[in-house]
Amino acid sequence: MSDSSNQPEKCACEGAPKANRRDFLLKVGFGLNALAGAMIGIPIIGYALSSFVQKYPLKKISLGPVSKFPEGTTRLASYHNPYSRKWDGDTAEIPCWVRHIEAEKFQVFAINCTHLGCPVRWFEESKLFMCPCHGGVYYQDGAHASGPPPRRLYDYECWVEDGELFLKGGILPTLADPKV
Ligand code: FES
Repeated sequence: MSDSSNQPEKCACEGAPKANRRDFLLKVGFGLNALAGAMIGIPIIGYALSSFVQKYPLKKISLGPVSKFPEGTTRLASYHNPYSRKWDGDTAEIPCWVRHIEAEKFQVFAINCTHLGCPVRWFEESKLFMCPCHGGVYYQDGAHASGPPPRRLYDYECWVEDGELFLKGGILPTLADPKV
């Protein structure tokens, strides 16, 4: 029979440094996983919620006096993008087509084709908007006539106030965010 009192006493702290290192590495691992999860998850959540948060609310913008747009005509106009930055230069001027139907009845169309965004042109002779890129055609009221565009031209909300034509704008409408 052995006498346990002759055995050297074990130190209670034996193995402690290894456990500490393991804990530390475990915490670093958790931290890195959390960081990677945040880096992947936050943009996904942001994307999913982006349609509920309007970063650039539409603003009331003047297109000038109604007299600039004779009744029965469709004319090119432009407005200054309220969200432009100093270095945007000429691109801060956003063109649009203004159709003066009669009296205070107007339509204002975004210039970008609803297919892939090329600027559409107005042809007075045929009373059609045509897109030079893939042959998209729209009627004078913006309705889709032929070609690849999936929908009518984008209409801005517009109205007349004290003899001045206004629209609600700020960013170019797109299929994902048509603003109409
Ligand atoms: S961009 Fe206009 S038809 Fe394709």
